[in-house]
Amino acid sequence: MKKITIGLILLGLVLAAVCAASADTAAVPAETGTGVTVIHAGEWAAQFPDIYASYMANGEDDEVVEYTEEYPFIKTIYEPYGFATHYGSARGHYYCVQDLLATGRPHPMANCFTCKTADFTAMTLNDGDSAYSVPFESIDPTGFDDVGCFTCHANEPGTTITVTHTYLTAAMGDDFGSVPAETLSCAQCHVEYYFAPDGKMTTLPYTSHASANPDDIYEYYDAMAFSDYTNPRTGVKQIKAQHPEFETFTGAGSFHGGQFNCATCHMERVTNADGQTYLSHKYVTPLTSESVRAAGNCAACHGDLEGFVRGRQEQVMTRVVAIGQKYETLTDRLADAVASGKYTDEELADIRELNRKGQWYWDFVFVENSNGAHNLALATNCLDKAELFADAALLLLDELEK
Ligand code: HEC
Ligand code: HEC
Ligand code: HEC
Ligand code: HEC
Repeated sequence: MKKITIGLILLGLVLAAVCAASADTAAVPAETGTGVTVIHAGEWAAQFPDIYASYMANGEDDEVVEYTEEYPFIKTIYEPYGFATHYGSARGHYYCVQDLLATGRPHPMANCFTCKTADFTAMTLNDGDSAYSVPFESIDPTGFDDVGCFTCHANEPGTTITVTHTYLTAAMGDDFGSVPAETLSCAQCHVEYYFAPDGKMTTLPYTSHASANPDDIYEYYDAMAFSDYTNPRTGVKQIKAQHPEFETFTGAGSFHGGQFNCATCHMERVTNADGQTYLSHKYVTPLTSESVRAAGNCAACHGDLEGFVRGRQEQVMTRVVAIGQKYETLTDRLADAVASGKYTDEELADIRELNRKGQWYWDFVFVENSNGAHNLALATNCLDKAELFADAALLLLDELEK
């Protein structure tokens, strides 16, 4: 990086900004209560053969890592939540519905379909919030799309992006029009969310783009005394973060966050045998895609993009593991303190609070799918807080046990 001149950086940024601006089209929010019927992906195959084939090619991204084996300490951190016993890594969109049906975690309500299929999205558009609490078992997923064209385009595939997930439109408020359409299309699912305690609607924990950051989200949850689970041994009421790619990539400190959109790095423009170009809907990473790197002119500034990104990911993930192990130790020690019966809830309150808060910041990085690539500054900031809170809690335990 040091070899490049400031001038080159500025030129590149200006060019990239111009390209990004010309490609950006505003998204439109989907209409509700219209009794819409989903036109399924397969029905678009004849009109958009290349895009349909690329969409189906997401099936090639089929590897799953079982996180409870790769990161054994999460069995303690997430105890007794479902993620402590089964937590498969993400794979291609092609597997959304089958992976949901196969998960070893319990899912009592239809809201679990929120980020898997447009067929459920249409139910929420037609029936409103009541769709979210329909019993899971009452839904027959035969013929459901995995994601589906409808999710991002409603029934008009093309350059217009329609945001069909109404909770995202609500969460963006007045900022809806200022976030690139391509980014909003992914933010329908690659976000932090929770199920509202009343009504079980899928909801995002913010009301503007500016408040979509780990600090404000924590305060939002804290203000409503929200927790996903309580550790039975320590009594800590914990919050489980989920895939906050949108908040991380567009958040403070992201070097390219204000300049690129999700499609810049994850969707390729491809030329077919007839010489026509189309936008591939098979999601790739810039590390493996020559086409993305050429279109984004990455090499102008990143001589070795893969080495640069892998180095940062290793730096982040090494800390994620070390701090995760710290929370395992903290959980076990706090559990022993509780089991000893020697201390009052009042004496343990600060330690529990530090554990709750620190694990949230740790989780925000652990569950973000880029492993630190999207925003090193944000990841580092979260991990610093997580480490500080774990150390402080362990120190308080030392004091207590003296
Ligand atoms: C996860 C979101 C998402 C899904 C699902 C999706 N698309 Fe797209 N699509 C996009 C984005 C983002 C663009 C780029 C929009 C723009 O031009 O700004 C796009 C662009 C397009 C275009 C314009 C192509 C071009 O070359 O510029 C067509 C046509 C299209 N999509 C068809 C489809 C079809 C058919 C399906 C289902 C098989 C589908 N899309 C599913 C996000 C999606
Ligand atoms: C309807 C919800 C939804 C939308 C919209 C969506 N995704 Fe996804 N995405 C998922 C789910 C769910 C998975 C995990 C699927 C599985 O493991 O079965 C996933 C997985 C992925 C993966 C694979 C991750 C891995 O570890 O292999 C990539 C890459 C990805 N999405 C990128 C995108 C991009 C880029 C967009 C926007 C253009 C987008 N997604 C829009 C729900 C969505
Ligand atoms: C500047 C380029 C860039 C932009 C823009 C970008 N990403 Fe990424 N993304 C990356 C890199 C680099 C990785 C790590 C890839 C790897 O490890 O191979 C990644 C990884 C991911 C993954 C995990 C993929 C996998 O196979 O494990 C998902 C999901 C993802 N990004 C979604 C998004 C979403 C959603 C957005 C928009 C909010 C976005 N990205 C914007 C560069 C980008
Ligand atoms: C005009 C120069 C320039 C271009 C073009 C450029 N980058 Fe960057 N990129 C940078 C600089 C500078 C940084 C910050 C480096 C640092 O923090 O040491 C950076 C950071 C990144 C990061 C880490 C982001 C973060 O906030 O932690 C990723 C990932 C990345 N670039 C990917 C890409 C990809 C992919 C492309 C092409 C689509 C690209 N870059 C194009 C200059 C550029």
